[in-house]
Amino acid sequence: MTAHHAATVATPLPEAQPLLAVRDVTVRYGRFTALRDVTLDVREGAFHGVIGPNGAGKSTLMDAVTGSRRPAAGSVLFDGREIARSRIAARRRLGISRSFQRTSIFPELTVGEQLGLVGDHLGDQDVDAVLEIMSLAALRDRVAGTIAYGDQRRVDIALALLGKPRLLVLDEPAAGLSVEETDTLFEHLRTLVRERGVTALVVEHDVDAVFASCDTVTVLDLGQVLRSGDARTVRSDPAVIAAYLGSAA
Ligand SMILES: Nc1ncnc2c1ncn2[C@@H]1O[C@H](COP(=O)(O)OP(=O)(O)O)[C@@H](O)[C@H]1O
Ligand SMILES: [Mg+2]
Repeated sequence: MTAHHAATVATPLPEAQPLLAVRDVTVRYGRFTALRDVTLDVREGAFHGVIGPNGAGKSTLMDAVTGSRRPAAGSVLFDGREIARSRIAARRRLGISRSFQRTSIFPELTVGEQLGLVGDHLGDQDVDAVLEIMSLAALRDRVAGTIAYGDQRRVDIALALLGKPRLLVLDEPAAGLSVEETDTLFEHLRTLVRERGVTALVVEHDVDAVFASCDTVTVLDLGQVLRSGDARTVRSDPAVIAAYLGSAA
């Protein structure tokens, strides 16, 4: 082997820039610090789960990423661009979309009408594709407020997919769903990530659902990152088991 060849082999590949980089983010509510120096990367194409006990700061972190809460300190980089102080709408235009429980905003409209309304607003006419991805085509003409709860949650995600976001942020999307409905929902999320190129950042109470679906997991505790990394490593980490999974592990 020539010296030149050896040198080429030894050159490390540059680390790919994460799609989302949260850097030393601190969020306060008055004198209470809900997040302290939180740093984490979300890789493009990841299905990234965030877990942690109630009050850990998970929702606050999603707020800092999507724009409903500005950090007191720190940086949020999306595709290399500083967005920590940008408005929600500006972030949405860049490709960060958050799902809210919105089926109840116009419960008298059909599923198709709701999607059409939001699609018009965002300049996305591709409602059929979104209905298809979320297995909602058969429910298109049903009044949104009358369909099953699990289907309504998939409508919420369908609404968030309009405008073709790069990063989908979900805060406990399976709250209130049965085990079967939760499975169906996560199956759709996996498909979005694997086949549609969406990057997903998902807070979820159901730890089993997270470890069954997510490739990367961040554990928050008391406003700080306890562990972050690939799902298998995090799951077997003694500190995670002790502090969070506890008797469930
Ligand atoms: N608007 C608010 N005003 C004051 N304290 C808040 C507010 N929102 C959340 N908190 C507090 O911040 C901490 C983190 O809350 P949150 O981000 O909702 O946690 P999680 O989603 O992990 O349950 C909790 O102690 C909560 O009581
Ligand atoms: Mg929360």
